[in-house]
Amino acid sequence: MRLHRAIAILSASVLATPFAAWAYPGGTPNYQTDAAPFCASCHSSRSVDALAGEGERAEKEVAEQKHIAVILAGDKGYASLSEADRKTLAAQIRALDTASSVSLAAPEKVAAGATFEVTVSVTGGAGPAVGVALVDAAHRWLARPIAAAGFAVVAPPKIIGSDGQPQLDWLAKRPEDMDRNLSFVNITGIASDSAAQSWASARVTFTLRAPQQPGSYPLTAAYFYGTEKSTVLGYTENAMGWKEVRGGFGGGSGRLLFTSVHKIAVE
Ligand code: HEC
Repeated sequence: MRLHRAIAILSASVLATPFAAWAYPGGTPNYQTDAAPFCASCHSSRSVDALAGEGERAEKEVAEQKHIAVILAGDKGYASLSEADRKTLAAQIRALDTASSVSLAAPEKVAAGATFEVTVSVTGGAGPAVGVALVDAAHRWLARPIAAAGFAVVAPPKIIGSDGQPQLDWLAKRPEDMDRNLSFVNITGIASDSAAQSWASARVTFTLRAPQQPGSYPLTAAYFYGTEKSTVLGYTENAMGWKEVRGGFGGGSGRLLFTSVHKIAVE
């Protein structure tokens, strides 16, 4: 009997382990494809604008409500922290959010059909990875991968990590004959420390081809990052030594941040 139970527990943890390792905390190590922000339903918004038009729901999705309030209340995985530690964790995560930014460098105008580069720069993010996508709107439920707006991604994105070095590994998981011209990437090797106030930074350069039809076209960058692994108060370690966020897989410790919508005049 006892042996049976031990086997049952063992196989449950064997099942749980790859789930934890491949789940979104950690980014998307296995999805080498275009992504749109609607997928990150568990993440918190950085502002109500990210769900403009969605009324109260937009407010519920903001980090202070969906994540920080749960920490301060001592609910869920935060129950095992003292009140003082919960306050410290909330302050550290607010500091990480303040330090986490995304910006987009793109031309104001381009010739119809021309090829040009845009660079998305990010700071902060807990790590070990962050995600960047080019989309057509600064909206969690409505944004589409940028190809939908008419800008084709025509080359593999160039990822420069926090150490200033080019990164090829994540993109190389996608077979070369399928083309690696993605509008979404993970940047790995990210490690921000919110107790020491040390923040990661990285950037991605995308090569786009403008639409043939003159007009004004939108371009926005979406930034996916986590918060809790930036501080020892924010995670526990399982038997395998992997960090498990205190808020849990379905908690609101992930974030979605957008740049404003950059309009490009195609002439
Ligand atoms: C079931 C909930 C859930 C869903 C759905 C989800 N995420 Fe997350 N994600 C999380 C959590 C929790 C974290 C935060 C980890 C932390 O706080 O450090 C996170 C963090 C991340 C990170 C940063 C990596 C890290 O470990 O901090 C990226 C990149 C990311 N998610 C991308 C995505 C993308 C892309 C999608 C859709 C394909 C998605 N997520 C869907 C829960 C989710």
